[in-house]
Amino acid sequence: MTTQPKTVYLKDYRPPAFRILTTDLQFKLEREFTEVSAVLQLERQGPGNAPLRLDGQDLQLRELRLDGRPLREEEYQVDVEGLTIFTVPDRFELSSVVHIEPHKNTALEGLYQSRGLYCTQCEAEGFRKITFYLDRPDVLSVFTTTLIAPQEGYPVLLANGNRVSAGTSTDGTHYAVWHDPFPKPAYLFAVVAGDLACVEDHFVTASGRDVTLQIYVEEKDRDKCDHAMASLKNAMKWDEEIYGREYDLDIYMIVAVDDFNMGAMENKGLNIFNTSCVLANPCTTTDTGFQRVEGVVAHEYFHNWSGNRVTCRDWFQLSLKEGFTVFRDAEFSADMGSRTVKRVEDVQLLRTLQFAEDAGPMAHPVQPPSFIEISNFYTLTIYEKGAEVVRMIHTLLGPELFRRGTDLYFERHDGQAVTIEDFVGAMVDVSGRDFRQFMNWYRQAGTPVLKVSDFYDPEQREYHLTLAQSTPEAKAEGKQPLHIPVAMGLLGEAGALKVNLAGEEIADLPADNTHKVLELVGPEQTFVFTDVPERPVPSLLRNFFRAGETGLRLRNRGFAAHHDLG
Ligand code: SER
Ligand code: ZN
Repeated sequence: MTTQPKTVYLKDYRPPAFRILTTDLQFKLEREFTEVSAVLQLERQGPGNAPLRLDGQDLQLRELRLDGRPLREEEYQVDVEGLTIFTVPDRFELSSVVHIEPHKNTALEGLYQSRGLYCTQCEAEGFRKITFYLDRPDVLSVFTTTLIAPQEGYPVLLANGNRVSAGTSTDGTHYAVWHDPFPKPAYLFAVVAGDLACVEDHFVTASGRDVTLQIYVEEKDRDKCDHAMASLKNAMKWDEEIYGREYDLDIYMIVAVDDFNMGAMENKGLNIFNTSCVLANPCTTTDTGFQRVEGVVAHEYFHNWSGNRVTCRDWFQLSLKEGFTVFRDAEFSADMGSRTVKRVEDVQLLRTLQFAEDAGPMAHPVQPPSFIEISNFYTLTIYEKGAEVVRMIHTLLGPELFRRGTDLYFERHDGQAVTIEDFVGAMVDVSGRDFRQFMNWYRQAGTPVLKVSDFYDPEQREYHLTLAQSTPEAKAEGKQPLHIPVAMGLLGEAGALKVNLAGEEIADLPADNTHKVLELVGPEQTFVFTDVPERPVPSLLRNFFRAGETGLRLRNRGFAAHHDLG
C-alpha cells in the first residue's frame, strides 16, 4: 500500500506532545524475521489529553501493552504510517513486540542485511521501520539495547554506547546488552550483528580517559584499516585542540559494510561506513582514496559534537549539523595535508556541481522551508553550500571569535535539539554583531553574481572599488541582497599594498594592513581606499577563488570582472 506524498513545512513545526525518557530494545534475530521488543517510558509534555501517535512502517505488531496491560483492539489503531493509542495517561510505560524482515529490506533503511551481516541506517526516518516510535530528532531518549542471535554466524553483537553485559544460552544463541548514557534521537540508533574481524587501538583523551577504538571489517580486509585508524586518532586530537571537544564514551566503533546508501553514518559510538570510506591499502588505493577515508572518518567523528551532543530540532535544520561538520572536516583535512589543495578541490566541487544544483530545478535554500521526502535533501547545497556559509561566518568573525561562538553553542545547547538560528545566535552573542541579513544565505536559493568595477585616481591617490550583487534573472524574484564577506588585498608592482579605507583611523589599523574583509550588504557599494601610491591590482574573494580561474579580466583602465559567488 502506498500513501499520497505529503508536504511538510518548517513553519508548521510543533514540539512533540510526548517525551520518551528511556528506550529499552531487544532484538531477537531469527532466520526469517527479527523480533523487536520495545519498552518505552513516556511522559506527556504540556497540557491536554491528546492521543499518542507513533511512527511505524512495515511492522507486524504482535503485542501492545500499556503499563503492563494488553491493549484491546478498540483502544488503538495501526495504519501504514504508524500507531495511534486513543487514551493514554500523562506518564506511562508502553511495551510493544513487532516482527520485521531485514532480509527483504532492499531500501537499506531501518534494519537490513548486507552480505549476511545485520546492520541499520536510521537517518533520517529509518527507525520507524524498526519499531513504533516518535521518530523525530527532537525526541531524545536514553537507549539500552539487547541483541540475541545465534553464536554461529553472528559472533559480533554491537549497539550504541558501552557494553554492559554479555553471555551465552544453551540453545546456541548468545546476547549482548549495550547502554548509551547520552540521550539521543532515534536517527542515531544503530545495531550490527555478524561475523567480523576487529582491529583495535586506543586513544587517551586530553583529560586522560582511555578510549578503546575498534574498526570492524570482513576478515579479508583486516589489513586495510590502518589509515582509517590513524585518521580517527588524528581527528580526535584535532577536535580537542581546535574546538576543545573531547570524546565522551569508553569505546568508539566503526563498522564497514558493502551495502550502504550514504558514505557513512555517525550513529552514537557506532559509526557505520560504506567500505569505500574505510578501507585503504597503499598497493591498491589512490591518493584521493586515502584523502576520502581521512575526511569521512573525521566527518563522522566530528558529528559526535556537531550533530549528536547537539542535534537538530527537525530536518529543516539538517545543515546545522552537516554544513558545520563539513566545514570542520575540511579544516581538518587542510591541517593534515595541503590547505591550498584541499581548498581548491572544495571550491571546484562547489563551482561545478553545487552551483549547477543551485541554478537548476533542484535549487533549494540551505534551510529549506518545506520537503516531501527528506532523504532527497542530502544535497550538495545542504552539505557544501552549508559549509561555505559557516566558513563565511568564520571569515566575518575571525578564528578567535568564531571559536568563542562554537564554545558557547556547544555549552548552551549540549543535550538539546536546536536550530540554525541557535547556531548563529551563539555567534551573535559572542560578537555583538548583527547577523539578520546574513540569514538570507540560509533562506534563499541560488548563487549570487558579483560584479566588480574599479577606478584609480592618481592625484588623490585613491582607489575606488565597486561591488554589486545580483541573483540571476530566472531566480531573482523576491530575493534580498546577501551579506557577503569579501576577503581582499591590493597588489602593487612590488607586492602587497596597504588597504586603508577612507574614514578609518590609521591608528586603529594593524601595522601590516594589507588584508581586509569588506562586507557587501547592499545591492551595490563602493569602497574607497586612500593613500594608494599606484594603480593596484585587486586580489578579491581570497580563499575562495584562484587567480586565473576567476574569470577576472584586466582591462586597460582598471578591470571589470564578473563571476559567481557561492
Ligand atoms: N549523516 C550522514 C553523514 O553526513 C549521512 O550522510 O555523515
Ligand atoms: Zn554528516
